Amino acid sequence: MSDINIKITDREGITHDVVAPTDMSMNLMEIIRSYELAEEGTIGVCGGMAMCASCQVYVITDPGLEPMGDEEDAMLAEAYHVKDNSRLGCQLHMMDSMEGLEVAIAPYP
Ligand code: FES
Repeated sequence: MSDINIKITDREGITHDVVAPTDMSMNLMEIIRSYELAEEGTIGVCGGMAMCASCQVYVITDPGLEPMGDEEDAMLAEAYHVKDNSRLGCQLHMMDSMEGLEVAIAPYP
Protein backbone atom coordinates (compact mmCIF):
# COMPACT_ATOMS: atom_id res chain seq x y z
CA MET A 1 0.00 0.00 0.00
CA SER A 2 1.20 3.46 -0.87
CA ASP A 3 -0.65 6.70 -0.20
CA ILE A 4 -0.08 10.38 -0.85
CA ASN A 5 -1.61 13.44 0.76
CA ILE A 6 -3.30 15.95 -1.51
CA LYS A 7 -5.69 18.87 -1.07
CA ILE A 8 -8.80 19.22 -3.17
CA THR A 9 -11.02 22.30 -3.06
CA ASP A 10 -14.58 21.50 -4.12
CA ARG A 11 -16.91 23.67 -6.20
CA GLU A 12 -18.28 25.28 -3.03
CA GLY A 13 -14.78 26.44 -2.10
CA ILE A 14 -14.26 23.95 0.73
CA THR A 15 -10.79 22.41 0.89
CA HIS A 16 -10.50 18.73 1.76
CA ASP A 17 -7.38 16.85 2.89
CA VAL A 18 -7.42 13.65 0.92
CA VAL A 19 -5.33 10.51 1.19
CA ALA A 20 -4.98 9.00 -2.25
CA PRO A 21 -3.61 5.55 -3.09
CA THR A 22 -0.90 5.39 -5.74
CA ASP A 23 -1.02 1.64 -6.19
CA MET A 24 -4.60 1.25 -7.44
CA SER A 25 -4.28 2.76 -10.93
CA MET A 26 -6.60 5.61 -9.99
CA ASN A 27 -6.64 9.04 -11.55
CA LEU A 28 -7.56 12.30 -9.85
CA MET A 29 -11.08 12.31 -11.30
CA GLU A 30 -11.70 8.91 -9.72
CA ILE A 31 -10.29 10.12 -6.40
CA ILE A 32 -12.68 13.10 -6.46
CA ARG A 33 -15.57 10.74 -7.19
CA SER A 34 -14.61 8.24 -4.56
CA TYR A 35 -14.54 10.98 -1.91
CA GLU A 36 -17.81 12.40 -3.31
CA LEU A 37 -16.31 15.88 -3.67
CA ALA A 38 -18.42 16.69 -6.73
CA GLU A 39 -22.04 15.86 -7.39
CA GLU A 40 -22.55 12.58 -9.25
CA GLY A 41 -23.14 13.26 -12.93
CA THR A 42 -21.09 16.46 -12.92
CA ILE A 43 -17.67 14.85 -13.00
CA GLY A 44 -16.15 12.08 -15.04
CA VAL A 45 -18.96 12.27 -17.59
CA CYS A 46 -16.91 10.68 -20.40
CA GLY A 47 -15.49 8.02 -18.11
CA GLY A 48 -11.97 9.41 -18.19
CA MET A 49 -11.43 9.52 -21.94
CA ALA A 50 -10.33 13.19 -22.09
CA MET A 51 -13.52 13.96 -24.00
CA CYS A 52 -15.73 16.02 -21.68
CA ALA A 53 -13.64 18.29 -19.40
CA SER A 54 -16.07 17.73 -16.51
CA CYS A 55 -13.02 16.66 -14.48
CA GLN A 56 -11.15 19.92 -15.04
CA VAL A 57 -9.13 21.12 -12.08
CA TYR A 58 -6.95 24.15 -11.43
CA VAL A 59 -3.52 23.22 -10.11
CA ILE A 60 -2.67 25.39 -7.10
CA THR A 61 0.48 23.60 -5.93
CA ASP A 62 2.29 21.53 -8.52
CA PRO A 63 4.78 19.06 -7.03
CA GLY A 64 5.95 18.20 -10.56
CA LEU A 65 3.09 16.81 -12.60
CA GLU A 66 3.65 14.87 -15.79
CA PRO A 67 3.34 17.09 -18.89
CA MET A 68 0.02 17.32 -20.67
CA GLY A 69 -0.68 14.83 -23.42
CA ASP A 70 -2.06 15.78 -26.84
CA GLU A 71 -5.62 14.60 -26.05
CA GLU A 72 -5.73 16.56 -22.81
CA ASP A 73 -4.33 19.65 -24.52
CA ALA A 74 -6.92 19.39 -27.31
CA MET A 75 -9.84 18.94 -24.90
CA LEU A 76 -8.81 21.91 -22.78
CA ALA A 77 -8.53 24.03 -25.92
CA GLU A 78 -12.30 23.56 -26.37
CA ALA A 79 -13.44 23.57 -22.74
CA TYR A 80 -15.04 26.36 -20.70
CA HIS A 81 -13.48 28.11 -17.69
CA VAL A 82 -9.97 27.13 -18.77
CA LYS A 83 -7.03 28.87 -17.09
CA ASP A 84 -3.27 28.59 -17.50
CA ASN A 85 -3.18 26.08 -14.65
CA SER A 86 -6.03 23.88 -15.90
CA ARG A 87 -5.58 20.11 -16.16
CA LEU A 88 -7.95 17.23 -16.71
CA GLY A 89 -8.25 15.19 -13.53
CA CYS A 90 -8.77 11.98 -15.45
CA GLN A 91 -5.38 12.38 -17.08
CA LEU A 92 -3.54 12.78 -13.77
CA HIS A 93 -2.68 9.29 -12.63
CA MET A 94 -1.91 9.09 -8.97
CA MET A 95 1.76 8.54 -8.29
CA ASP A 96 4.16 9.04 -5.40
CA SER A 97 5.67 12.18 -6.96
CA MET A 98 2.29 13.92 -6.55
CA GLU A 99 2.62 14.17 -2.77
CA GLY A 100 1.53 17.68 -1.75
CA LEU A 101 -0.57 18.34 -4.85
CA GLU A 102 -3.25 20.99 -4.37
CA VAL A 103 -6.07 21.46 -6.85
CA ALA A 104 -9.44 23.18 -7.07
CA ILE A 105 -12.25 21.58 -9.06
CA ALA A 106 -13.30 23.83 -11.96
CA PRO A 107 -16.98 24.77 -12.43
CA TYR A 108 -19.12 22.20 -14.21
CA PRO A 109 -19.20 23.01 -17.92
S1 FES B 1 -13.62 12.60 -17.32
FE1 FES B 1 -14.07 13.42 -19.25
S2 FES B 1 -12.34 14.59 -19.71
FE2 FES B 1 -11.86 13.72 -17.80
